[in-house]
Amino acid sequence: MTNPVVYPGTFDPITYGHVNILNRATRLFGSVVLAISDNPSKNTMFTLADRVAMAKECTIHMDGVTVEPFRGLLVDYLKANRYTTVVRGIRVLTDYDMEYSMTFINRQMYALYETVFLMPDALHLTTSSSAVRDIHINGGDISPFAPDVVKRYFAKIPRKYDND
Ligand code: COA
Repeated sequence: MTNPVVYPGTFDPITYGHVNILNRATRLFGSVVLAISDNPSKNTMFTLADRVAMAKECTIHMDGVTVEPFRGLLVDYLKANRYTTVVRGIRVLTDYDMEYSMTFINRQMYALYETVFLMPDALHLTTSSSAVRDIHINGGDISPFAPDVVKRYFAKIPRKYDND
C-alpha cells in the first residue's frame, strides 16, 4: 500500500474550502490524513479536541480520510509516521509566499518532504477560517462557508452583541 498524503493545518474551524481540497486530494491519492496542529502560535477559537471532533464529523462520509491531531513540528510528526508528502491548498498569490517558505524550511529539516499544491473551486477562493469566525462573532450566518457540524460547535461561542 502506498503512503497516504497528509493535509496539515489548524482547521479553526474546518470550512467548505478545506473539504473541497480534501475531496480533490482523495480523488488523486486515495487516502489522506487530515493532520490538525495544536498550533500554540495561533490563538485558536476552538480547542484541539473540538477541531479534531468537528473535522471527524465533517469527513465521516468520505472514503480514505482519517483525522489525526499533532503537536510540535510538522516534520517531526511526518517522520514519526513515515509520511513524506503534504497537500496544501493555494487560493491566492499571497498563500504561495507562505507555502514557498514553509516547503523549503521543512525540506531543510526533512529531506524527503514534498508538497503538492491544489487549488479549490473558485467559489472557495476567498473562504478562510478567520472570516468564518468573524462572521459568527458579528452575528452572521456561516452556512455558505462551513458544514452544519461546524455551525453546531459555534453555537457555544458567544456573539459580540448577544446581550444588546
Ligand atoms: N479553504 C479555506 N481556508 C483555507 C484554505 C482553503 N482551501 N486554504 C487555506 N485556508 C486558510 C485557513 O482557513 C487559514 O485561515 P485563517 O488564518 O484566516 O484562519 C489560513 O488559510 C491558513 O491556515 P492553514 O492552512 O490551516 O495553515 P496554518 O498556517 O494555520 O497551519 C501548519 C499550517 C499547521 C501546517 C503549520 O503552521 C505547521 O506546520 N505548524 C506546526 C509547527 C511547524 O512545523 N512549524 C514550522 C513550519 S515552517
